[in-house]
Amino acid sequence: MFALIGGSGFTGNDVIENAEEVSVETPYGAPSAPLVFGTLGGTPVVFLRRHGVRHEYAPHRVPSRANLWALKKARAEGVIAVATVGGCAPDMGPGRIAVPDQLIDYTWGRDVSYYDDFGAAGMKHVDMTWPFDRALSARLIEAAERLGTPVRKEGVYACTQGPRLETAAEVRRYRQDGADMIGMTLYPECALARELDLPYAGICVSVNHAAGMGDCRDEIDFASLEDVLRRAVGSVVEVVKEAVKETES
Ligand code: HPA
Repeated sequence: MFALIGGSGFTGNDVIENAEEVSVETPYGAPSAPLVFGTLGGTPVVFLRRHGVRHEYAPHRVPSRANLWALKKARAEGVIAVATVGGCAPDMGPGRIAVPDQLIDYTWGRDVSYYDDFGAAGMKHVDMTWPFDRALSARLIEAAERLGTPVRKEGVYACTQGPRLETAAEVRRYRQDGADMIGMTLYPECALARELDLPYAGICVSVNHAAGMGDCRDEIDFASLEDVLRRAVGSVVEVVKEAVKETES
């Protein structure tokens, strides 16, 4: 069974069938929402709303340690994380779907590890050369290809602190660093999943050109962002639905 983490726009409510909510606790507190066990297109999944049921957790306050711990305890075989991004590569305009293969962390002050000190858990350094699970990412890409949904097969995800959007100069810097898309949430999720040996992949949907770029040269229009999200999220859900389908063996 795969776990799905839904961000803004992918709330799960309307797409998870036979949903059963289970409230859980972890050594790191409660996750951002009850776990929702159910099916997606007939396939069992467990779904978690990253920002909470009432969207009460801003990106820098998402209890990611509790979230990933809860999904591991729920025996998820992997985590598919849906996230919105601002595009900074020329081909990452609004509506574009991407499966990132790299990440740069620009966040600060978040709880990024289960191994904070030499306490009972000891110390662990995980390999993050490839921050997203490559087999699970390939599974998402293959699902999109089967459906004929255009998808960018790689890309560098820059994770910013939020909740504010970036300045135009920050976006130029991130682009110079190699970023293709900018979001606020896939870190520390991917690192925590790695510490738990939980395969983790992201599927991102661009809802705007990043600040200072394209039609967002002067400002970011939140109404159009919501509009793009509403239209694009359906395709993302279809790709995820196809990806979680049990493979015949
Ligand atoms: N920046 C950061 N995160 C985002 C953006 C953005 O422009 N759009 C959607 N999530």
